[in-house]
Amino acid sequence: MSNVIIVHFKKKSTLFIKFIFINFFKLNNLDLKLDKKGGQRYEVERKFGISTLCTRVGLQMIYFDNAASQKIRKEALETLNKGLKNCFANPSAKHKFGQSLLKKIEDHRNYFTKTVKGKDLYDFVFTSSATESNNMALLSFDFKEGDVAYISSSEHPSLIGPLKECEKRGLVIKELPLDESGILDQETFFQNLDSKVILVALSHVNNQSGVIQPVEEFSQRLKKIKEETKIHVDATQSFSKLSISLFDQYIDYMTVSSHKLGGPKGIAGIYVKKGVSIKPLLYGGGQEKNLRSSTQSFPLISSFTRAVKEGMDSLEGEYNRVDNIYKKIRTTLKENIPEVLFPFSSSDKCKVSPYILTFVVPNISSDIILRHMEQEEIYLSSTSACSSKVKGENTVFKGLGIDNKYHKNVLRISFSNETTWEEGKIFCEKLKNCIDEMSFLMPKKK
Ligand SMILES: Cc1ncc(COP(=O)(O)O)c(C=O)c1O
Repeated sequence: MSNVIIVHFKKKSTLFIKFIFINFFKLNNLDLKLDKKGGQRYEVERKFGISTLCTRVGLQMIYFDNAASQKIRKEALETLNKGLKNCFANPSAKHKFGQSLLKKIEDHRNYFTKTVKGKDLYDFVFTSSATESNNMALLSFDFKEGDVAYISSSEHPSLIGPLKECEKRGLVIKELPLDESGILDQETFFQNLDSKVILVALSHVNNQSGVIQPVEEFSQRLKKIKEETKIHVDATQSFSKLSISLFDQYIDYMTVSSHKLGGPKGIAGIYVKKGVSIKPLLYGGGQEKNLRSSTQSFPLISSFTRAVKEGMDSLEGEYNRVDNIYKKIRTTLKENIPEVLFPFSSSDKCKVSPYILTFVVPNISSDIILRHMEQEEIYLSSTSACSSKVKGENTVFKGLGIDNKYHKNVLRISFSNETTWEEGKIFCEKLKNCIDEMSFLMPKKK
């Protein structure tokens, strides 16, 4: 028997009070019925005899925050488990057991260079995270006071942070120009290129906008003008999802990270062009060719390699499959919620990765939507887990050209090899319901 409670809000009730109230009922598995006629009236239908703090019992989680971290792939988990169980020796040990693991690590390293056509041209160093790889590259090169490095303010903090450190020692940081679609404005850049430029750092796919930077073409153009300038590419959001080749050797350093592509956390890597300077962050036993001391984790390395292989072997098919879901979600969101805005779109000039879809719901705080959706076991992101916020202004969104008035309304969904259109459909429906409820709560404009 259902038990209906009708709630009247006072005209003065704030949005916050209403939000807390409604979520209290949601947390207790009570179904809400909005009575739009009354304007301020709610019917709360008690559906399940007992209240419980567990929401969406029996419903499956929809995880759309893969750009922050992805679930480990089945095959990578199997490899990890086997490695942890059986391959526990220290690869630096002189005995047969340790040496056999060291040999396998070298095979995995070779796979990494071969898979981007960089064999014999690049070294590959295993690190613990993309953050470590970025720091290693950007703190490696020598510079004189007044030398210039270019980076865009929309970059990940693990690129900006080490350059800020170099700035304290006299490196001049200049802004890499992006056009209104978020793509590198090459004409403006080359017209104003500072003759003291020694480094350019940029992401292949921006973690917030999904915009794909034409890193290969740009690097070639830059190297033709200034061969000695170093180019660091952060491929954390693209590796094994979009193709990239190091065959032409225009890129000097390239970062990749395991947990963004279905491998375990705690392992990542960096490509370094042979002959280009790279300095260790960690000194000690001299592992990783003296570039990263500390015991190598064979289980993590082999599981990371397995995840990359799975991604590389299905790269094109997966790209098309995810692209299809991306387009359907985008279209459905626009149909269901006409006010939704998409700040980044593919066009002739600009390509956006189908693994990342960023949108804006004007007037409703993205954090409120996030809280609402998580009660439905649906996970998305309101900003990058690491992006900087200064007094409500988000420097990354600003750098990407998103109007200040929308900084609190930006949402990002990001996909993986496990994402299905079924999930996309539920997501669109649930988001529409959430926004209908929230819009109803918004103070009516007179
Ligand atoms: C472009 C980019 N670079 C670096 C990182 C940091 O990755 P990690 O967690 O492996 O340090 C991220 C994570 O969001 C990222 O998106």
